[in-house]
Amino acid sequence: MRKIKRIGVITSGGDCSGMNAALRSVVRCALYHNVETIGFYRAYKGLVRNESVRLGRRSVSNIVGRGGTILKTDRFPEFKEKSWQKKAVSVIHKNKIDGMIVIGGDGSFRAAHKLSSVWGIPTIGVPATIDNDINGSDFTIGSFTAVNVALEAIDKIRDTATSMERIFVIEVMGRSEGFIALHVALAGGAEDVLLPEMSFDIDRMCEDIKEGRKIGKISWIIVVAEGAGKAEDVAGAISIKTGFETRVVVLGHVQRGGIPSAFDRVLASRFGAYAIDLLLAGKTDKTVAVEANRLKAVSLSTAVKAVSRIDTSLYDLMKILAI
Ligand code: ADP
Ligand code: F6P
Repeated sequence: MRKIKRIGVITSGGDCSGMNAALRSVVRCALYHNVETIGFYRAYKGLVRNESVRLGRRSVSNIVGRGGTILKTDRFPEFKEKSWQKKAVSVIHKNKIDGMIVIGGDGSFRAAHKLSSVWGIPTIGVPATIDNDINGSDFTIGSFTAVNVALEAIDKIRDTATSMERIFVIEVMGRSEGFIALHVALAGGAEDVLLPEMSFDIDRMCEDIKEGRKIGKISWIIVVAEGAGKAEDVAGAISIKTGFETRVVVLGHVQRGGIPSAFDRVLASRFGAYAIDLLLAGKTDKTVAVEANRLKAVSLSTAVKAVSRIDTSLYDLMKILAI
């Protein structure tokens, strides 16, 4: 087993709150073990361009509570090509890096899996994405902060919805995952939610809206995950089928920013530390993960499997509570 003296780190894919806290943990836990950290700006794009920076203890001062990522992030679809992966490997060797830590989501982990399984670079993932879609981990860094941000907006919309007795359709992020949508719907007291993982009967919902009016239920909040349909289309269909006025709010990238919650900062700190432990123990091709509040290692190939992670009992509960 090669001794780890210097590691490389990137933040990759869609940014999320808590990436900085994870980076701080990686850098400082590495230092604790006398390991040096080299960061690469702009994810895989910066890696192939060797946009490197030495990260010392002061480089990560005062970032534990800052959203986004000081290392920047970018999408670099070209990394699917072997020629670019080879380039990254040569940059890693040139910088005398003994192991990589990739802080990101499932796309970033697909690339990390290639670095380790095809190119032999010891690589460990740290799940960080608002989508909470890493298989084998109960949570990813940033997902609950995104829920909190969306929830704050929904609470405000509820005030005007109630006052003006209106139906609001609110679109939240999640192309193939309904995690944010389902959690804000339950926590925000929404009347309904459309998720990419579940089929939905719009006629049934319109009947509910009409019935609701008869018994005094006058304001409705319907949450739509972006992957389940366009809020505008859903609102249009409701107006046509019920004859009631609707309003649309698309929350968009606001959900990716903001101060990371205490939960996400703690998770990020634990994940960063455990990622260093795994690298030092000679592990590779794994991501750190949490299950029932215990840290564990999951193979990267398992972590990127697209499996539905929606707890349908939360949907049922939301409907029971929305009477
Ligand atoms: P996330 O990590 O948040 O899911 P993306 O899906 O955009 O974000 O992936 C981040 C980056 O990972 C991509 O821009 C690309 O550089 C790299 N990547 C994604 N999928 C692959 C793949 N199959 N092979 C190699 N690299 C990939
Ligand atoms: O993966 C995180 C995410 O925020 C998704 O929820 C969303 O669909 C996507 O990224 C948006 O990507 P972009 O920042 O490229 O618009």
